[in-house]
Amino acid sequence: MNLFSPLSLRTVTLRNRIAVSPMCQYSSVDGFATDWHLVHLGSRAVGGSGMIMLEATAVRPEGRISPHDLGIWDDNHILGLKRIADFIKEQGSSPAIQLAHAGRKASMSRPWEPKHGFVPESEGGWSRVVSASPIAFGEGYLTPVELTVQEIEEVIESFADAAKRSLAAGMEIIELHAAHGYLLHQFLSPLSNHRTDEYGGSYENRTRLAKQVVTRLRQVWPDELPILVRLSATDWTDGGWDLEQTVKLSQELHTLGVDLVECSSGGNVANARIPLRPGYQIPFAAAVKSAGVPSAAVGLITKAQQANEIVETEQADIVMLARELLRNPYWPLQAAAELGLEIKWPVQYERAKL
Ligand SMILES: Cc1cc2nc3c(=O)[nH]c(=O)nc-3n(C[C@H](O)[C@H](O)[C@H](O)COP(=O)(O)O)c2cc1C
Repeated sequence: MNLFSPLSLRTVTLRNRIAVSPMCQYSSVDGFATDWHLVHLGSRAVGGSGMIMLEATAVRPEGRISPHDLGIWDDNHILGLKRIADFIKEQGSSPAIQLAHAGRKASMSRPWEPKHGFVPESEGGWSRVVSASPIAFGEGYLTPVELTVQEIEEVIESFADAAKRSLAAGMEIIELHAAHGYLLHQFLSPLSNHRTDEYGGSYENRTRLAKQVVTRLRQVWPDELPILVRLSATDWTDGGWDLEQTVKLSQELHTLGVDLVECSSGGNVANARIPLRPGYQIPFAAAVKSAGVPSAAVGLITKAQQANEIVETEQADIVMLARELLRNPYWPLQAAAELGLEIKWPVQYERAKL
C-alpha cells in the first residue's frame, strides 16, 4: 500500500490518499460560493488530489468565522456548491464538505484586513456570539452567550439540514468540524466548557454534543456515504482536551458511524505553545489508527517521500495537505513522478506528463 493506492470509505473510493485539507477562502458574500471557489478547488482536483475538502462551511449565519465565510444554511446555497462538486467529480476526485459552526470565534475580520479583530454589526458582523460557556477566546474577541439546551437542539438540527443540502449539492463526503477551537471543540474542552448541566463537567457530558450531532448526521446522511470528523487531538495546555480523550472519543464516534477521524490540534487556547515541526501531528493520527479507527494525518506535510511513508507505515490512511497545495495544486502529479508511482493525468495535460 502506498500514497497512490485507492481507499474505499463505504461506497466512495478515493483514487489516492492525498486530500486537500479544508481552507477558508473568506471569499463569499452571504455564504455563497463564487468563481474563486470553483477555480481554487477545481484546480486542485485537476492536480490529482483524491479528496477535495471544501473549507469550513457555516451551518448557521452566526456560525461563520467572518462575514465572508462559505455557508450552507440556506437552500439557495446549493446551486453554487453543486457546480463545484460536479466539476470535482468530473476530474475523478471526491468532493467533501466541512460543516462548521465557529461559536465564540465568530464575526472576526478576514486575516488579510489591516484592522484585524471583531467585526461589529455596523460593519457586517453580528452582536451575539455563542458558546458552551460565557468565556471569551481571547483579547479582541466578544464574550459569548451560553447556549440554552433548546438552542443546542437548534444547532444540531442546523447540522442535519446542512447535511441534507450537502447531499443535494452532490457532495460525496461530509465532515464535522470539531477542531481548532470552534463550537464543538468549545464543548469538548474543560477550558472552554464550564457548564453544570448535562453538556458540561464529565467527559461524558462534554462529548455529548459531538455525539448527538454525529448521531443526527447519520440519520439524514445516506448509509452508503462516509462521514468524517476533524478533532484537535490536544489543546497543548494542562487541564485541557488531550490525546487520551481524543482516542476514546474517536472510538465512540466510529461506533456511531464516523468513518475516519482527522487529527489536527490546538486552536482553543489563545497562547498555547505548539511545538511546530514537520509532521508534528502524525503521532496523533497514528494513535487513533492503532486504536482501530481510520485516520488522516495533517500538518507540515510537504514532501512526497514523507507523505508516502505515513501511508506505507500505516500511521494514517489519508494524508492531508493545506499550504503545500496552495503553493502547488499539481503536487500529487509531481509526487507520483518523484515516487515512481502511477497517476492518471488529465488528458488535456498529458503532453506535459513527467
Ligand atoms: C488559509 C488556510 C485556511 C484554513 N482553513 C481551515 C478550515 O476551514 N478548516 C480547517 O479545519 N482547517 C483550516 N485550516 C488548517 C488546514 O486545514 C491545516 O490543518 C493546516 O494548515 C496544517 O496543514 P499544512 O501544514 O499542510 O498547511 C486552514 C489553513 C490555512 C492555511
